[in-house]
Amino acid sequence: MDAQQTPVNSAAGYPGGMQIPGWELFYKGKVRDLYRKHGDAKQMLMVATDRLSAFDVVMNETVPDRGRVLTHITEYWLEQVADTIGAARISCDPAEVPGLPEEFHDVLRGRCTWTYVADRVNVEIVLRAYLAGSGFREYQATGRLWEHELPAALQNSSKLPSVLHTPTTKAEVDEPITWAQATELIGDPKEADVIHEVASRLFETAAARSAEAGVLLADTKFEFGRLNGQIVLIDEVLTPDSSRYWPADSIVPGQEQSIAWTRKSYAPTCVR
Ligand SMILES: Nc1ncnc2c1ncn2[C@@H]1O[C@H](COP(=O)(O)OP(=O)(O)O)[C@@H](O)[C@H]1O
Ligand SMILES: [Mg+2]
Repeated sequence: MDAQQTPVNSAAGYPGGMQIPGWELFYKGKVRDLYRKHGDAKQMLMVATDRLSAFDVVMNETVPDRGRVLTHITEYWLEQVADTIGAARISCDPAEVPGLPEEFHDVLRGRCTWTYVADRVNVEIVLRAYLAGSGFREYQATGRLWEHELPAALQNSSKLPSVLHTPTTKAEVDEPITWAQATELIGDPKEADVIHEVASRLFETAAARSAEAGVLLADTKFEFGRLNGQIVLIDEVLTPDSSRYWPADSIVPGQEQSIAWTRKSYAPTCVR
């Protein structure tokens, strides 16, 4: 597919997989396509497509401009937390991507991020303020959440006594691990402490900022990498793909929270 065949703001959405002359599409994630310029392993072009995934399954349908919304939200949060932590991203402006052919600027505008390739920390740094999803299922089965003991009689969507770290591996299917195991995977206990502390602060900032907008941040996942000896944020940040956001004024304890802004008529089907 070339730029001409990929309409901007197309009602069909942008499925990704586009060939860019002089660039190699070297990784197709569930949502993002990663390109590098031939011969350059230090920087890459991360393109948020309009693909949709849930529970690690990619759907057949795309949602028009979804990738742009995800990119914009990540950009917003990176700016909000810039005093706390740096990021690997360089620019979201296609005109600032060296050597990106001009005919691809329109299709990539708003959805591309020119970024340094960081040495990725292969742990998903998950934090939870409320009991939901796999966390609630574990609590039902064991009365705990990862290594954290919890009070009895919590319900689905109950507030946790504090914001808890519940890391997972980064694998085809992510496995829960304790913080001690996460520290081992990170490799350096001091670096693990920094990640733990920074992630807690990011959660606190994001939850407070979201609350001002009437939105409750139930949980989220951060990814970190190492760049020039520093820990930096990579990937997406505090998007609805990596986070559970609930309308703060309509939480019903004891059940799954309906997400008011989900289109009920939308019935995606699975690719794999
Ligand atoms: N700056 C970066 N350096 C290294 N890896 C990154 C960076 N930013 C994102 N990534 C990785 O790129 C991939 C983005 O594609 P995505 O569709 O989110 O993949 P996934 O299916 O693994 O979630 C992820 O594997 C993420 O860890
Ligand atoms: Mg991802």
